[in-house]
Amino acid sequence: MTIPITSQHRILVVDDEKNIQTMLEILLTKEGYNVDTASGGREALDKIDKTFYSLIISDIKMPDISGLELLRLIQEKSPRSMVVLITAYASNETAVEGMKLGAYDYISKPFKIDEIRLVIKNALEHQILKEENLKLKRQLSASIDDLGIIGSSKPMRNLMDTIIRVSKTRSPILITGESGVGKEVVARSIHYLQDPKSPFIPVNCGGIPENLLESELFGYKRGAFTGAIKDKAGLFETANGGILFLDEIGELPMTLQVKLLRVLQDQTFRRLGDSRDIHVDVQVISATNRDIEKEVIEKRFREDLFFRLNVLRIHVPPLRERKEDIPLLLEYFIKKFSTKYQTKPISISSFILKELENYNFPGNVRELENMVERAVAIQNSNIILPEAFETKEEISGPGESEGSDSFYTCNFPNEGVNLPDLLEEIEKQYLKEALNRCQGKKIEAARLVGMSFRSFRYKLEKYRME
Ligand SMILES: Nc1ncnc2c1ncn2[C@@H]1O[C@H](COP(=O)(O)OP(=O)(O)OP(=O)(O)O)[C@@H](O)[C@H]1O
Ligand SMILES: [Mg+2]
Repeated sequence: MTIPITSQHRILVVDDEKNIQTMLEILLTKEGYNVDTASGGREALDKIDKTFYSLIISDIKMPDISGLELLRLIQEKSPRSMVVLITAYASNETAVEGMKLGAYDYISKPFKIDEIRLVIKNALEHQILKEENLKLKRQLSASIDDLGIIGSSKPMRNLMDTIIRVSKTRSPILITGESGVGKEVVARSIHYLQDPKSPFIPVNCGGIPENLLESELFGYKRGAFTGAIKDKAGLFETANGGILFLDEIGELPMTLQVKLLRVLQDQTFRRLGDSRDIHVDVQVISATNRDIEKEVIEKRFREDLFFRLNVLRIHVPPLRERKEDIPLLLEYFIKKFSTKYQTKPISISSFILKELENYNFPGNVRELENMVERAVAIQNSNIILPEAFETKEEISGPGESEGSDSFYTCNFPNEGVNLPDLLEEIEKQYLKEALNRCQGKKIEAARLVGMSFRSFRYKLEKYRME
């Protein structure tokens, strides 16, 4: 197996002696690596927060933080980085102690150029192998429970194979599929397979105003705009070493599309109002329920950005194309919500199961999940059937309240019910479902439940659903 050692690797050289810094910088740049320098432990930590380094070469004796202390902090902050220590010839013992603490190797002063080259090459090869091994182990032992994806149908098995395959790389991935099919679940499972300890940062590109989204993603320098009272790191920095999940990518405003393209091209960006480049190692996984190809044709989405995001593609099929999964999903959600509401598990009659299998689930898995939550929350032994809603509309038409008694199966327990609580619970469920169906757009959701925007918002506040 050949291991590519390319300029993808960033190396940080930490030494308080300027001439050593410069010498290593020149040597390693010539070898084709990207090199940064820091003249002490604190500066190094600052850089490690912002940038992922495959390798950190640090002097042991430094005035602010010792190399060994720095090593400990690196293991905490950036466990995937390799560390090589620099030691004066006479103090190899400390270097050996460093290796016991987890440094990969050491190089001793005065330097022998060939030794440095070899140690660094080995350290980087070791880093790649270590990551590959860890990933492989997780992939081999990954069970459905670990991935959090329920489903045994053919389409779901194919999906899981794809997930395992794509999680071997850190190329951008585009996940498509209708609302509520489980796109985020898929993204999280890739994260699990890659490295569960690394950051997974979800961002909803549709729910945040343009300016805010820009400063959220890229961060800003103090004074960049009114209100920017101190420097702030963007989510690209927070996601360093892990995954940035850009949900509803189809709604990303044009100006931000240009900026995102640049980050994808060279993994480099600037905070707003700052002239320094920040380099990050972030895998971008994006998701959309829109027909993104059509958006591209109609010029609402940049073609070049689309190609960058769509390096790998995962399509999550709608629930109606994999109805075999319904019983498993039901079982899973019932368990989940009976734990949450501390109720006895409710049972589902085979009649209801059949009914559910006849239903089309426009809201996909989320709709099924909400349905079960509702049923468990109000302790109804019958799952409330979606047909109840449809039929009602067909028969009585919207706006009529007659016949609403058939909305729910009235399951009157012998000991009685707390009707006000029950009604609140039902109200909450409807508000939540309306928001889901309208992708969080409150104005539309209010209309859907026949409420004014004001009272809708009031209810959301009341139930702390904001
Ligand atoms: N296969 C699955 N196994 C278990 N839970 C699932 C599965 N698919 C979806 N869910 C659950 O359904 C809900 C919706 O899933 P998710 O948020 O991933 O959908 P989505 O495709 O991102 O939807 P949207 O387009 O509306 O953002 C979540 O609560 C998720 O946990
Ligand atoms: Mg989603």
